[in-house]
Amino acid sequence: MVDKRIAIIVAAVCLISTNADVLTHKSPIRFPDDFEFGAATAAYQIEGAWNVDGKGRSIWDHFVHTKPESITDGTNADIAANSYYFFKRDVEMLKELGVNNYRFSISWTRIMPFGRPDYINPLGIEYYNNLIDELLANDIAPFVTIYHWDLPQSLQERGGWLNEEIVDWFGDYARVLYENFGDRVKHWLTLNEPYIHCYYSYGVGYHPPLLYSPGEGYYECGRHYLLANARAYHIYDDEFRASQGGLVGFVISMEWGMPATGSAEDVQASRDYAAFHNDHFMHPIFSEQGNYPQIMIDRVAAASARQGLNVSRLRPFSYEQIQYLKGSADFLGLNHYFSTYVYRNSSLEGSFTVPSLEDDIMVGKFKDPSWPHFGMTREYAPGLYYLLNFLKEKYNNPLIYITENGASTLTGLDDDSRVSYIRNYLSSVINAVNEGVNVKGYFIWSLMDNFEWAHGYSLRFGIYEVDMNDTNRKRIPRKSALVYKEIIRSRVIDVSYEPDPYAKEIVMLKGVATFSAPYFVTFALTIFVCLV
Ligand SMILES: *[C@@H]1O[C@H](CO)[C@@H](O)[C@H](O)[C@H]1NC(C)=O
Ligand SMILES: *[C@@H]1O[C@H](CO)[C@@H](O)[C@H](O)[C@H]1NC(C)=O
Ligand SMILES: *[C@@H]1O[C@H](CO)[C@@H](O)[C@H](O)[C@H]1NC(C)=O
Repeated sequence: MVDKRIAIIVAAVCLISTNADVLTHKSPIRFPDDFEFGAATAAYQIEGAWNVDGKGRSIWDHFVHTKPESITDGTNADIAANSYYFFKRDVEMLKELGVNNYRFSISWTRIMPFGRPDYINPLGIEYYNNLIDELLANDIAPFVTIYHWDLPQSLQERGGWLNEEIVDWFGDYARVLYENFGDRVKHWLTLNEPYIHCYYSYGVGYHPPLLYSPGEGYYECGRHYLLANARAYHIYDDEFRASQGGLVGFVISMEWGMPATGSAEDVQASRDYAAFHNDHFMHPIFSEQGNYPQIMIDRVAAASARQGLNVSRLRPFSYEQIQYLKGSADFLGLNHYFSTYVYRNSSLEGSFTVPSLEDDIMVGKFKDPSWPHFGMTREYAPGLYYLLNFLKEKYNNPLIYITENGASTLTGLDDDSRVSYIRNYLSSVINAVNEGVNVKGYFIWSLMDNFEWAHGYSLRFGIYEVDMNDTNRKRIPRKSALVYKEIIRSRVIDVSYEPDPYAKEIVMLKGVATFSAPYFVTFALTIFVCLV
């Protein structure tokens, strides 16, 4: 009985480990010399010092303190990786990796405790000045996200993303950052991930402000995100571009949805899925015509009419707004994590809340059980290759930086599944670049373990592990950090490269042993059986 179980586990692990490296090219393709590598983080997830030196409260500070039960492990980011104090170590890590770029975000309430520019906190300005200067002294370019979800609580109490005035609030905030940091920051990312932020906040009651409005609030939030991005873009264009000469991009997360079968319904489902998930935020900015994609306008209007509403829940943009949004990004910041199969058939009828985004799209999804496990989920790395080609074809080959891509694990330094993930996804990138997709750079999510929003510290995304129990928040490179460093150094993906002597370096130099016995036994058995 036990023998049989072990045999099954070993067979499964064999299958996964042989499937894991789907790198196909025989002679490795080099990343072009001007391709840039980077690592990414976000302020709330790493900085800590939530109430230090005049910082005001964000919606996340408010949320974790009033609803701690909403976080998987009941933790918060009051201290997190404590980068407010340890940022020099962060820059040292970036230097160790050999990256060109660091993507981090600025905490709105550290700069303006109440969200408005009538009071600007000099200590907040000083912190980011120090970080930016430290990066530049080490030849690392700052890619600054202006907003990564930590809205000032006082602006939330005035309606947050559902109040159209946020377009002004955000523009005023962006201007303060351009004024203070634009002499040294040449790549701005206005806002992070409209789909995820609006969906988790309004489409499902999962992130602050916990306002469940899946059929209207979700779309209103997205609408204001698009307008706020355009405001920040035009402010830069009108007031700063001539003197500062930088670029302003918008960060959109996108999934790759493939039809489950060749049926006309499944194929249409995959088009509709792309329209609502990707084109919703791409089309108004990067297409010739502008505005929301027509598929989305039509589907929400039809569903609204069925629901007896006189007007569509997707509030239309005016002609002036459509023009204002068109071209409002110099480049696309693409965050990509997931692929999925999508389908549409009678089994979906009545299975979604009415009204809601899901009901408007009317698509079912699942992951193929044969996809390899990377970190905590099954993923399909070629999805990134197809997505990049789709963007090239549909949007006239825009300039793209992949601003996030990565996998989660549990604690522990031996993160082979993340190593596989990075190699496989980077091979999708290199193949797309080789075929003319205009991807200029890649950022791994994330430089270090951090507060993973509602998952707390239960999921780890860092290529550096952070010991959250250590007052010094010691950072230690995982195996993936050493593999990423070698890819950056050699500019090729060598699947046979093993950091050497990996175990010795980690265990002896850093004084941390992490190989648990059962894992090690399975690992040894796997090697043995796979080789035999
Ligand atoms: C929808 O609203 C408009 C403006 O109030 C009104 O003229 C029209 O008759 C309404 N249509 C329906 C079908 O109720
Ligand atoms: C609907 O499509 C899914 C995915 O292809 C399939 O698993 C399911 O059996 C289908 N259901 C019906 C009722 O056709
Ligand atoms: C702190 O250490 C305990 C015991 O080793 C561990 O279970 C817990 O996950 C650690 N907490 C964090 C946030 O890393």
